[in-house]
Amino acid sequence: MSRKTGVDWEKKAKETLSANAFGYLSGGSGSEVSLSYNIKQFDRYRLIPRVLREVSLTDTTTHLFGSSIQAPYLLAPIGFHTIVHEAGELASARAADAAGVPFIQSTVSSYSIEEVSEVMAVADHYFQLYWPSDDDVRESFVRRAEAAGVKGLVITVDTPVLGRREIDLSHNYFPMDEGAGMANFLADPVFQARYLSPTMDSAEVKQKIQSILFNPSLTFKKVQQLIKSTSLPVIIKGVLHPDDAKRCQDIGAKGIIVSNHGARQLDSAIEPLEVLSAIREKVGNDFPLILDGGIRRGADIIKSLILGADAVLVGRPYIYGLTGGESGVMDVLSTLKEDLEINLKLLGATSILDCHHDHLKRLER
Ligand code: FNR
Repeated sequence: MSRKTGVDWEKKAKETLSANAFGYLSGGSGSEVSLSYNIKQFDRYRLIPRVLREVSLTDTTTHLFGSSIQAPYLLAPIGFHTIVHEAGELASARAADAAGVPFIQSTVSSYSIEEVSEVMAVADHYFQLYWPSDDDVRESFVRRAEAAGVKGLVITVDTPVLGRREIDLSHNYFPMDEGAGMANFLADPVFQARYLSPTMDSAEVKQKIQSILFNPSLTFKKVQQLIKSTSLPVIIKGVLHPDDAKRCQDIGAKGIIVSNHGARQLDSAIEPLEVLSAIREKVGNDFPLILDGGIRRGADIIKSLILGADAVLVGRPYIYGLTGGESGVMDVLSTLKEDLEINLKLLGATSILDCHHDHLKRLER
C-alpha cells in the first residue's frame, strides 16, 4: 500500500532496489492501461455507510477452502522474492503465518516447496503451478507439493506465454539472470536427471528452465485430468470470462481467482472487478471466488466482497514490504488489516458477512 503515514514500502522499494528489479515488480504489460485501471477500478464504486449499528467488535475472520483465516486475503504468488530480500519466500511465508493468512508460493520461487513448507506452522501454504511443457516435471511438482503437505494447488492459466513487459525488455532483464526463481527446478529429481549436467553454467540452466516453464498447449481437458489425479484441491487463477469460470467449475476446480495477473499478461485486459458480478452469477453463490489486481486498501477489499468475492489476493504491496524482510511484510499485512477493520466499523459492519449490495453504489460517470 502506498501510504501517507508510516513506511511507504513502494517508495522504499524504489529507492533501495535496482532499477531492473523495481521495474520487474512494478511494471505491467504493453501499454500498461490495465495497470492503471486495476487501481482505478475501485474508484467507480462508493460505499454507503449504515449508522448506529454497535460496531465495537469487528471480526475479519473468513472461511476459505475449509480453513478459518484471520482476514479475507491471501498473499499472491509472486516469483523471484530474492531479488527483493535474501530471505525471499521464507520471510514472506513467515509473515503470512504470523498474520494467519495463506501464502501462495510461486513455481518460480527462490526457495523450494519443501523449504517454504518447513517455515509455515499455522497458516495455509498453497503452491502455484506454471504448468511446465514437460509433463514429467509437472507431475513431479504436483507429487512434491502433495508430499510437502500444501493445502491446495493454484494453476495459473493466463500465461500460455509471458506477457510483453516493455520495461523488462528495455532493461533486457529477467530475474533468473540473478539466479532467482530456480529453486523448484534445481531441487526437482526429474528436472535434474533430464536437464542438468555437472558441466553446465548458470546461463545454460536458466535457458533449460525457460524452455519448459510455460505451456501454450494447455487445455481444460488437461487441467481436468490433473484435477482427477491429485488429492489436492485445485484453484484456477487468471479467469476473466464467465463462461470460462463455469467451465472451470464443471471440470472440478474448487475455486477461481478472477485476475488479470496484476496487468502483466494480456495488454488491455479488463479489470477483474468489472467481470466479478457476472462470474458470480454464472457459478452460483457457493463456489469460492477470489479477486486480485490493485487491492491496496481495506475499502478495496470491502468493494470486492460486496461484488461477489469471498477473498482477495494482495500482490505488489507485500512484495514492496519485503524490502524490509519479514517485518516489512508483516507491517504491510497488519496495516491492511487495521484499515479493513476501521472501514468495516465505519460502514456499520461487524464482520465481512455484513457487507451487502446496499452498501455500494456504482457511479454513472
Ligand atoms: C506476479 N504474479 C504472478 N502470478 C502467478 O500466478 N505466478 C507468479 O509467479 C507471479 N509472479 C508475479 C511477479 C510479480 C512481480 C508480480 C507483481 C505479480 C501475479 C500475482 O499473483 C497477482 O495476480 C498480482 O500481483 C495482483 O495484482 P497486484 O496486487 O500486484 O496489483
